Amino acid sequence: MIRKLWAFTAGAALLLVQGASIASVDAPPNEFSEETKACIACHKETSLGVVQQWGDSKHHRAKVGCYECHKAEAGEIDAFIHEEFDKKAIGKNKPISIIVSPKDCSNCHEKEVAEYTASHHSQGGRIIGSLDNLLADVVEGNRAMVTESFPEGVSAAVVNGCWQCHGSEVKVMKDGSLDPATWPNTGIGRINPDKSRGSCSACHSRHKFSVEQARNPENCGKCHMGPDHPQEEIYYESKHGIAFHANKDKMNMDRSKWIAGEDYDAAPTCATCHMSATKEQGVNHDVGMRISWNNRPAISVRPETTDAKMDLPGQHVKWDERRDNMKNVCSACHGESFIDNFYIQYDGQIELYNNKFAKPGLALYQAALPLLPRDAKFANHLDFVWFEIWHHEGRRARHGASMMGPDWTQWHGNYEVGKHFYGKYVPELEELIEKNLDSEDANKKASALALKNLLHEILSDEFVVTDEKTGKEVKSTGHSWFIGKMSPEEAKARKESREAFIQRYGEQTDR
Ligand code: HEC
Ligand code: HEC
Ligand code: HEC
Ligand code: HEC
Ligand code: HEC
Ligand code: HEC
Ligand code: HEC
Ligand code: HEC
Repeated sequence: MIRKLWAFTAGAALLLVQGASIASVDAPPNEFSEETKACIACHKETSLGVVQQWGDSKHHRAKVGCYECHKAEAGEIDAFIHEEFDKKAIGKNKPISIIVSPKDCSNCHEKEVAEYTASHHSQGGRIIGSLDNLLADVVEGNRAMVTESFPEGVSAAVVNGCWQCHGSEVKVMKDGSLDPATWPNTGIGRINPDKSRGSCSACHSRHKFSVEQARNPENCGKCHMGPDHPQEEIYYESKHGIAFHANKDKMNMDRSKWIAGEDYDAAPTCATCHMSATKEQGVNHDVGMRISWNNRPAISVRPETTDAKMDLPGQHVKWDERRDNMKNVCSACHGESFIDNFYIQYDGQIELYNNKFAKPGLALYQAALPLLPRDAKFANHLDFVWFEIWHHEGRRARHGASMMGPDWTQWHGNYEVGKHFYGKYVPELEELIEKNLDSEDANKKASALALKNLLHEILSDEFVVTDEKTGKEVKSTGHSWFIGKMSPEEAKARKESREAFIQRYGEQTDR
């Protein structure tokens, strides 16, 4: 007789180890299911590594076996009859699936799945239509990769790049197996055959599903790295990353309870700040619940604004509540005024970038569009210049400041923004104006004049923007030096300190 899984008395719930929240089951059984025993008997031979990893896991200890995760209902789109299993009496007509989706995990981990499903992570697959997507589909790619689910072809750049981080929409082929353009894939917002979103194995690698590994910075670093969101690099250059490396062996990363201040104090990891428990907060699988700015768009906005656009429940959680959640994490190791002052520094960087560069930059780009020689996006050099200013350099400046990586804020961030704004963007706009100001085409002429006036207004520090934080109208300042109109007092003070500097260091090769 097959033992009915999970039919247990309340008393047995005491067996549960603290730290895991098993919402919809009372307690694990104390024996493996017969199905699982059959899987193991074979897979010990065909894929020993899988069995070993699992044998080392908490699931093994809790008697959660292969079948409990991989079982499927007949009729589920990715359910397949596993021939070898089907040949066994115990496996007759019991389909399984390869994908173990968040929906499958939710049988036992309801809370984690609900939080994850409510988060931006679960939405990571919704990138079609983005500018980045245009790059990988068209600029970098073509449709030469043909599979059963993509008879018209799909871009190999999307398959191997974007989808591996963001998640593919996994397609099931006629014979029930998974389309190779869409699987293997553990992208964060994978769209599963059962329509659930995301992949728990993006962070909990199979088959150990270890929380220890998930708490390591490298775990997030598969995706959170590189020129447009170098969070891993920033972290490793920050005091926090330095302290982590020096003290990794004292971090008790393998404990099931892992509270900053109680179980470790040497350093925070990504998980500490964005997900893990504090004395007051539980583990949260919605990574948006502690961040008060969304720094991904060209102009930083409050997270509830983007959550509303995506219709996520976070639309009702205001930025200041989220900031308080994060401050609560910091308070395990830092004092209140230290934390408050950090946020004043960080907000200052957001305001600087938003008001000095992002808002004028975007207005200029829009005003320049009618004058660009080619209609298609990314067919003009200016498209790339503006894209890199906000998507790479402007993000790096903001991300660097948010996670205490000053080199990223300055030399990979603000410096590049300034260099390309004044050294590439403005000169290219001036060229466009010059080319079109005397155009025979009346529309072009008018557009060139409008762009000229806008550029003049911006460079004269007269352009008015609405500040994201206060909602007030302020001027976008800090440009007039470029047209030689710095205020006489500031110019004088600068000249004096420059001369004093030369006294100390001698003349440099610059002027
Ligand atoms: C009689 C032997 C046998 C039994 C029983 C068995 N398997 Fe397999 N399984 C295989 C072989 C052989 C393969 C193909 C070779 C491989 O992929 O390692 C395979 C492949 C798989 C695959 C990969 C399919 C793919 O296309 O990538 C999964 C998932 C799997 N088995 C899960 C299970 C689960 C879960 C059970 C128990 C419910 C089970 N197997 C029972 C022998 C068996
Ligand atoms: C806690 C749930 C869980 C358990 C228990 C589990 N698996 Fe898996 N398995 C997964 C997940 C998750 C994936 C990756 C698919 C995905 O990303 O959805 C996977 C993938 C696989 C694959 C295909 C991928 C590959 O690397 O080839 C095989 C084969 C497999 N499992 C076999 C087994 C066997 C055999 C056992 C028992 C020894 C087992 N699994 C136990 C969750 C589980
Ligand atoms: C049939 C129930 C069941 C299913 C299905 C299941 N789990 Fe678990 N899981 C458990 C139990 C029980 C524990 C607690 C073990 C303990 O704390 O000792 C656990 C523990 C965990 C842990 C903590 C491991 C650690 O090192 O502390 C993680 C992570 C986890 N599961 C992830 C998953 C993921 C991801 C899936 C889906 C791919 C999944 N589980 C599917 C029952 C299940
Ligand atoms: C190395 C992993 C990785 C690759 C490859 C990757 N991305 Fe991303 N992408 C991310 C991460 C991580 C973020 C979130 C960054 C942040 O929060 O600062 C992101 C953010 C985005 C966003 C902004 C989402 C939002 O909420 O505003 C879009 C759109 C996007 N990526 C599209 C793409 C496209 C299209 C491709 C392929 C051309 C791609 N990405 C390639 C990891 C990746
Ligand atoms: C972005 C990475 C990430 C993803 C994706 C993720 N987890 Fe986790 N998970 C973690 C981290 C980090 C921890 C450890 C938290 C801590 O420090 O205790 C954790 C802990 C857990 C635990 C242990 C219990 C607890 O709350 O501490 C379970 C169970 C779990 N995750 C299940 C899941 C399931 C199910 C999914 C998919 C719906 C999932 N996780 C997706 C990072 C992730
Ligand atoms: C497999 C890729 C991947 C992994 C691994 C990953 N992320 Fe992400 N993360 C993304 C993508 C993609 C986005 C942007 C999603 C979107 O908005 O479309 C994102 C967004 C975020 C956000 C912004 C959330 C919001 O609401 O705006 C935070 C914070 C974050 N991730 C933290 C983490 C942490 C911490 C880890 C590790 C514990 C991690 N991520 C692991 C891909 C990943
Ligand atoms: C000391 C705590 C701390 C650590 C450690 C940390 N972060 Fe952050 N992270 C923050 C803060 C603070 C912010 C900005 C929050 C805000 O906007 O209010 C942030 C913002 C983010 C964002 C949002 C970026 C966006 O585009 O909006 C992502 C993604 C992120 N962190 C990922 C990571 C990853 C990945 C790691 C590890 C490599 C990490 N963080 C380590 C505190 C931390
Ligand atoms: C687990 C402990 C821990 C947590 C949590 C933590 N920090 Fe730190 N933090 C440290 C340590 C250790 C240092 C290094 C102190 C030193 O340089 O003497 C540090 C240094 C700093 C510095 C100084 C950076 C520099 O370059 O001098 C700032 C700013 C900072 N933390 C802000 C934060 C903020 C903001 C948070 C929450 C988002 C936070 N920390 C969370 C342990 C922590």
